[in-house]
Parts: sequence; C-alpha cells; structure tokens
Amino acid sequence: MNPAPVIAIDGPSGSGKGTLAVRVAERLSFHLLDSGALYRLTAYAALRDSVGDDDEAALAALVARLAIKFHGAGDAVRVLLDGEDVTRAIRDEACGMAASRIAGLSAVRGALLALQRNFRRAPGLVADGRDMGTVVFPDAVIKIFLTASAQERAQRRYKQLKDKGFDVNLRALLEEIEARDQRDTQRTVAPLTAADDAIVIDSTALSIEQVQDRVLELAAQRLQAVTD
Ligand code: DC
Repeated sequence: MNPAPVIAIDGPSGSGKGTLAVRVAERLSFHLLDSGALYRLTAYAALRDSVGDDDEAALAALVARLAIKFHGAGDAVRVLLDGEDVTRAIRDEACGMAASRIAGLSAVRGALLALQRNFRRAPGLVADGRDMGTVVFPDAVIKIFLTASAQERAQRRYKQLKDKGFDVNLRALLEEIEARDQRDTQRTVAPLTAADDAIVIDSTALSIEQVQDRVLELAAQRLQAVTD
C-alpha cells in the first residue's frame, strides 16, 4: 500500500507557511505537522530541565522522553508537554531563538526525525517546517517553498503577536528574523533551502487566500495523479 501523501511546506520564519499549512490541512481534511513546535518544545524542555543548549547527547535523550500532545485543530490547537499546557509559552521569540539554536545540532534533528514521520497517516499530511521536503519527507507529492521579504515577514509576525496580546517591537522583530534566517540557512545540518523539486512561491505581494488557492489547485492535480 502506498504511504499517505504528504504536502511539504517549507520556508523562513514569518513567511505565512503556518497559516497556509493549517488552511490546506483543513480544506483537504489532512493531518497537520507543525515541526517548528517540536523544536520549540525541545528548547522549552531544555530550559525547564536545565539542559545546556549545546549538550547534544543530553538534548537527544531529552527528546526521547518528551510526552507531547496536540489537542484540537487549526488555530484552536493546544500543545501539552508532560501534561502542562505550553501553547503560549513556546510561541514567544526567546523560545523561537532557542529552538533555532538547538536546531543546528544533528543529534537533536536525528532524534526528532522518527517523531515527525509518525505524523504521516491516512488520508494525508500537511507538514510545515524548514526541511520537510528536503529531509523528513523527500517523497512528498507537493513541495512548496514559501518566502517573503524580511520586512514583510516582520510586519506579519508583529501583527500576529500583537493580536495574541504579546508586547512587541517591530524593529526588534526584524532584527530577530534576520538573525534567525542567517542561522537557519547557514547551518551545516539540514539548512533551510528549497528542495530541487520544490515550487517556490514569493508571498510578499500575495494574500494568504491567493497562496492557498494556488496550493489547493496543485493538490487537486497531483493528488488525483497519485490515486489514479
Ligand atoms: O517555524 P518556527 O518558527 O516555529 O520554528 C522554530 C525554529 O525551529 C526555527 O528557527 C528553526 C527550527 N526548525 C527547524 O530547524 N526545522 C524545522 N523543520 C522546523 C523548525
């Protein structure tokens, strides 16, 4: 039997891939993997358990004992770590930066690999991250690489965090996004890059609806071809 089809959506912070992934998964009734949340959860647990963010072996062992649960779907999803609701805590920028740091360690990426692949279930999976199409699901039927200018991404992130009640500063966000881009694209292990067979979409001047329509159109063509 063929494994469940995967739609991989990769791209830099704030490109809108999270929102896009949620919408596409909802429309297709597919499962959703927010892989960034797994890196954030690992970073959060490391801080909680006083594990150094450069201690590869201890971090990999930590991943193996994490009890992670996602409850609900879409924007209403709640993330539980060892029974504690950390939905909000893992979203702050400090946690994102710590996640970006530990994401450069190959032992951490290796430990998270099986966990991510376990999300692949019928009828299909939309996987959102940095290396979904290049490393985790190289056989994905559709690979999207979503980008936007750093300025536009900072603006979107600003609005998103403000709406959630966080106290944020646009200039600081832009600097953080640029620093994170730099680290995510320069790291030696699974750097942020478009797969050779990815479709690159620059969403700087596009609405989320326009991007969503484009991806759903591709999904209609390719998923049909897979089941034929
Ligand atoms: O998508 P996000 O902002 O929640 O991700 C947080 C960090 O985790 C990001 O800076 C890089 C890392 N990450 C990664 O290296 N690979 C992934 N597949 C997802 C996230």
